[in-house]
Amino acid sequence: MSVQAEVRRLTAPDILARKGGEPIVCLTSYHAHTARIVDSYCDVILVGDSLGMVMHGLETTVPVTLDMMVLQGHAVMRGSKRALVVIDLPFGSYEASKEQAFASAARVMKETGCGAIKIEGGRRMAETIAFLVERGVPVMGHVGLTPQAINTIGSFRAQGRDESDWAPIEADARAVADAGAFSVVLEAIAEPLGRRITAQIPIPTIGIGASPACDGQVLVLEDMLGLSPRAPKFVKRFGELGPAIERAVRNYAEEVRARTFPAAEHTYPMRAKGASGGVTTLPERGKGPARA
Ligand code: KIV
Repeated sequence: MSVQAEVRRLTAPDILARKGGEPIVCLTSYHAHTARIVDSYCDVILVGDSLGMVMHGLETTVPVTLDMMVLQGHAVMRGSKRALVVIDLPFGSYEASKEQAFASAARVMKETGCGAIKIEGGRRMAETIAFLVERGVPVMGHVGLTPQAINTIGSFRAQGRDESDWAPIEADARAVADAGAFSVVLEAIAEPLGRRITAQIPIPTIGIGASPACDGQVLVLEDMLGLSPRAPKFVKRFGELGPAIERAVRNYAEEVRARTFPAAEHTYPMRAKGASGGVTTLPERGKGPARA
């Protein structure tokens, strides 16, 4: 038996059980190094299709493919061990039929080992959500602003800022809960509406530009780290990594040009004559400090 303490990953039922309890902390991550950090502090890591905009510089999430989600999902699973990893199904991989949705979800879960998937849409996706859940796929819903629908909605504007617009958004959130989703993202909706939906439905609401009353919160990691050149109003910048990275890159470029980097401590001297010894092992890049 292993002497190491076993770390159990959180599951979709664990997150569902948190309704009305301790806030659920969620961030996006798309790669192993950030997943390792996020995993220490968050309950849920979302491999969002926002990776298309953040990693690939796309204008919208529409061109994101299932292959892209699987690749980054793998990386996040390797970098994490405790949080529930939820992977977005991208535009075009689930809307055509319940069967298409199941095939995409099954591929993502089998190939990455993630614990749940997320799909956008309320009432229109309810039947699909029920179909997936009945077949062993935990589903996180996503209502309010649904960025994959950008070409029909026309802009990334907040939803439900007039009370007359509330009913369809409430109906969407209820439909997702009734269909068996274990949680639902509420994106960019008026604060009182986020509060009201959270009080009405029996599954955790995860807010992003919704309300502090939501059962949990999510942000795109690069937005909250200050790396994204533009970020929506609902983002608080908890860090300023952009200027820090720029400073480091500028210093590197200056030192390379001045030939002050690499210094003696970053180079390999010849072994002293007559010294026997083992083979010098180079560290894998990005895996830790260099050994002599
Ligand atoms: O793709 C994503 O990162 C998301 C969050 C914004 C909720 O769906």
